[in-house]
Amino acid sequence: MWGGRFAAGPDAIMEAINASIDFDKRMARQDIEGSRAHAAMLAARGIISDSDGEAIREGLLTVLSEIEAGEFTFSKELEDIHMNVEARLKDLIGEPAGRLHTGRSRNDQVATDFKLWTRDQFDAAIDGLDALMKVLLVQAEDGADIVMPGFTHLQVAQPVTWGHHMMAYVEMFARDKSRMQDARARMNESPLGAAALAGRAYPIDRDMTAKALGFDRPSANSLDAVSDRDFALEFLSCASICATHLSRFAEELVIWSSAQFRFVVLSDRFSTGSSIMPQKKNPDAAELIRAKVGRINGSLVALLTIMKGLPLAYSKDMQEDKEQVFDAADSLMLALAAMTGMVGDMKPNVESLRESAAMGFSTATDLADWLVRELGLPFRDAHHATGALVKMAEDKGCDLPELSLKEMQSAHPEINQSVYSVLGVDNSVASRASYGGTAPDQVREQVSRWNGKLK
Ligand code: ARG
Repeated sequence: MWGGRFAAGPDAIMEAINASIDFDKRMARQDIEGSRAHAAMLAARGIISDSDGEAIREGLLTVLSEIEAGEFTFSKELEDIHMNVEARLKDLIGEPAGRLHTGRSRNDQVATDFKLWTRDQFDAAIDGLDALMKVLLVQAEDGADIVMPGFTHLQVAQPVTWGHHMMAYVEMFARDKSRMQDARARMNESPLGAAALAGRAYPIDRDMTAKALGFDRPSANSLDAVSDRDFALEFLSCASICATHLSRFAEELVIWSSAQFRFVVLSDRFSTGSSIMPQKKNPDAAELIRAKVGRINGSLVALLTIMKGLPLAYSKDMQEDKEQVFDAADSLMLALAAMTGMVGDMKPNVESLRESAAMGFSTATDLADWLVRELGLPFRDAHHATGALVKMAEDKGCDLPELSLKEMQSAHPEINQSVYSVLGVDNSVASRASYGGTAPDQVREQVSRWNGKLK
C-alpha cells in the first residue's frame, strides 16, 4: 500500500509486531459497513462516479459474504482488516477499488470500526443486564416472604428477606445499565472523515456518513476524533464495575451453596462434580464469574496505561486497544449469561434460611426498639439493657425468645409478655416497612416498580 516510498519489504519481526489482522478481523463487518457508507457518500458528492460507487458497494458485500462463509484468506502481509478487505476488493472489482480510500485514512477508519464494534457491545451488555434483572425479579417476587439472616462483617446482623437481598442486586445492575447507556450516548459521534488527523480537502459530507452508520453527529475535531479512545476506556470502566457486582454476588452464591450454609441449591446445569470425591457438587460457574473481574480490570488498567502520555494524534500504540476490549467484552457477556442462568435455576432453601435468620441474636435490635417504643427508654439505655439480656442468653446457651419473662425483667422490671411478639423473625422483617426496607410488602412494591420499568 505504500510501495512507492519503500525499496525493501519489512523484516519478518517487523511484520510480526506490526500486524493486527489476527485479532482485528473481528471488526470485518464494521469495516465493510463503514466503507460502504463512505463509498456511497463519495458518489453522492460526485467525488467518485456513481458506477464506481456501486461497484465498490457491491464488491464489499461479496467480501463480507466470503468472510462470513469462512472462505476468506487473511494475510499477515496486509497487516490489518482494513487492508485485507481493500486488497480483496481490488481482486474482485479492479481499478475502482483504488478510489475507496479517497477522503479518509486508516486512522479515522479504525476509530470508526472500533466505535461501531464497541457500540454493539454496549447494546449487548445492556440486553444481558436486562435479562439478569428479570430473573432476579422473579426470585425476589417468589421469595418476598422468605426470611434470611442479613449480615454486616459477615456476622449475623438483622433478619432480612430473600426478596430484599435479590432486589439489592437489581439496584446494582440497574446502575450498571444506566452507566452503559450514558457512555453509549456520549460515544456516538462519527470519526469518519477526520482522515489522518486534519480533515480532508475533498467536499466530503460527514453528516451523511454519520447518519448512515447510526451516529448522532460527526465528531467536531479531527485531531480528537482519531486519537480518542475514551469510548473503549468507558466500556472497560463500565465492564469493570459491572464485573465487580457480579463477583460479589458470585461470592455470596459460593458461600451460600456450601454445606455449612445451605442457603441455596444451585442447579446441576450450573455446577460440576469432582473426579475424585463423589459427593461433591461444585459452584464452578459462580467461582469463574467471581474471577472474571480480574481479567476485565486488567484490560482497563492495560488500556489506561497504553493511552497515558500519548501525544496527539494517532500513534500505533493505539492498535493495542482492541484485544483488551475484545477480551473484556467476551468475559463480561459470558459472566452475565452464566449468572442469569444460575439465578434463574437456583432454589432458596427456605428452612435453613429461616433457621439461620433467628441465630446470633438477630432480633436484639427489635428488642431494643421495643424498649424505646413501649417503655419510653432512651435508645442508649435500651441498647444497654438488651446487651445484658443477650449476654444472659449466651451464657445459658439459648436464644433471646427462650428467656423467661422473669429473666427478661431482670434487665428492666416493666418488660411484659408482649415483648415476645417482636422477637420472631417474621415480625422483625414485617416491621421494617419504611421506604427501601426489607418488609415483604415493601419488597413487592419495589418488584412491581422494576417490572414496570423493564417492560
Ligand atoms: N491497524 C491499525 C490500528 O489498529 C490501523 C490504523 C493504522 N494507521 C496507521 N497510520 N498506521 O490502529
